[in-house]
Amino acid sequence: MKITVVGAGAVGASCAEYIAIKDFASEVVLLDIKEGFAEGKAMDLMQTASLNNFDTKITGTTNDYSKTANSSICVVTSGIPRKPGMTREELIGINAGIVKTVTSNLIEHSPNTILIIVSNPMDSMTYLVHKTTSLPKNRIIGMGGALDSARFKYRLAEALDAPISDVDGMVIGGHSDLGMVPLTSNATRNSIKVSEFLSSERLSKVKEDTKVGGATLTKLLGTSAWYAPGAAVSGIVQAIACDQKKMFPCSVLLEGEYGLNDLSIGVPVILGKNGIEEIVKIELSEADMQHLHQSAEGVKKTNSLLAL
Ligand code: 2OP
Repeated sequence: MKITVVGAGAVGASCAEYIAIKDFASEVVLLDIKEGFAEGKAMDLMQTASLNNFDTKITGTTNDYSKTANSSICVVTSGIPRKPGMTREELIGINAGIVKTVTSNLIEHSPNTILIIVSNPMDSMTYLVHKTTSLPKNRIIGMGGALDSARFKYRLAEALDAPISDVDGMVIGGHSDLGMVPLTSNATRNSIKVSEFLSSERLSKVKEDTKVGGATLTKLLGTSAWYAPGAAVSGIVQAIACDQKKMFPCSVLLEGEYGLNDLSIGVPVILGKNGIEEIVKIELSEADMQHLHQSAEGVKKTNSLLAL
């Protein structure tokens, strides 16, 4: 299976590396507009192949979309990352034009591809792709909730002083500092609700730390994070490539589900060879449903800035 990753920056290259190490794809094509950059990253990554024991072939190209032809899955990480103090929404002016051009070029060479959108503000970029391409909605997937859920589990394990493998939790809603909805009432430690172990005050801190997980790292790193975003994307790619029927929270176009319409936002979905196999309706507390709708209002406000 051939997979393309557009954007050979930190997130894109990390994603390519994790896909290669998992060794489920025959080929990963890295594409970037910066002369030689994707070729260099691909060559460096290929020189880890004997050390990390993978046979996946990673190649790089400088903006030649013919090299991406017939990709089953295309990941879009291109665009500028945020700087400390910026919101993801502030990136829309520059990133919308980039995402529109990139997805058009990808679809021209891979009309049957499944697109995974990472560029921020991700929910609005995913919605933009729905509105500017002819791909069916099951083949346009926004990656945000998988990353936010990983950060949620990290914070839960920290609070519980438990191994991550004992913890489960999901974040739905918009991939935005204010709009995320960590489902604390559903989170578990080895099938037992975490509220059995943590006070409501400590759970609130877990929730708030999760929501600003990206901003916290941007402040520390001076730019957006890349290891966890890259790993989250690789998990989604693997679920599709290997037809795993695995559940992730992903940004998908809603047409009445959860009482929401005409936007792309994070909800639980089953991923398989067709991309989005099913949008899963879970029971939400009144408070969580309210937070999801508030988050949707924020996403729609950002969507209104798109020149559609
Ligand atoms: C993050 O939250 C880059 O939006 C991504 O780190």
